[in-house]
Amino acid sequence: MQEAQAIIERVRRVSATVQRLDVAVDRAHRNVGAGQLFLARTTASFDPYLREPWTPVHRNGSSLTIERPAGQVYTPGQIVSLIGPIGRPLPMREKIRTLLLIAHEATPAALMMLAETALAQGAAVSLALLGAAIHYPLEALPEEVEVIRGDDQGKWPDQPETLRWAEQVFAVAPPPYDMSYYTQLLDSIRQVKMEVPAQYVYGLFQPPLPCGVGACQACLIRRSGEEVPACTEGMAFDLTTLHLLAPEGKA
Ligand code: FES
Repeated sequence: MQEAQAIIERVRRVSATVQRLDVAVDRAHRNVGAGQLFLARTTASFDPYLREPWTPVHRNGSSLTIERPAGQVYTPGQIVSLIGPIGRPLPMREKIRTLLLIAHEATPAALMMLAETALAQGAAVSLALLGAAIHYPLEALPEEVEVIRGDDQGKWPDQPETLRWAEQVFAVAPPPYDMSYYTQLLDSIRQVKMEVPAQYVYGLFQPPLPCGVGACQACLIRRSGEEVPACTEGMAFDLTTLHLLAPEGKA
């Protein structure tokens, strides 16, 4: 991980809520993996103090496509400082055939490079959009992805069948929904699988990241009995290793 300058080459409005930036990045930042992100400073000052989390949705040579909320202003030619890549690449199985992605109350942007990789390997990819995520613009998704629309409770029609179908599951839910949703998801999977194998279902965490290098302890996640920084050990964690809340009615 290192800091380097990057240049915004193009700004595209994808929908009323989403824009994408094509950004020319330093050689050190070109090999970003699916699920990794950058911390960006777009001004010369320290206001705001926290860097923006920039999530690549596509990689093409020296250029990365970054997804950002539409309300923020960026201009072609703008130079930004990037620190990264932050976190570890999402651990997708080799030769995966069926991949389920879930975005609950969140943009699925952090899962887009994983979808692209799986599709390139010939896998079938389904994306469940739940809660506020149902408003995500479908035109921003690869055509080959099957989109499932769910409800505000984090469920969708035929959910048990979809969970049985998937060889691996990656979900993203922002704070404060992350722990409660991941608990619910793991409980749903336990209802359709006798045993949830390790490295089968992952949840991404998206806490504020003041440092991104494991130094400030602002992003600690309890895993296998110890607290570890999401920015160095995540951002995705195997849900079977986490200290999740008790499912409803089982406390
Ligand atoms: S952001 Fe500082 S330890 Fe993770």
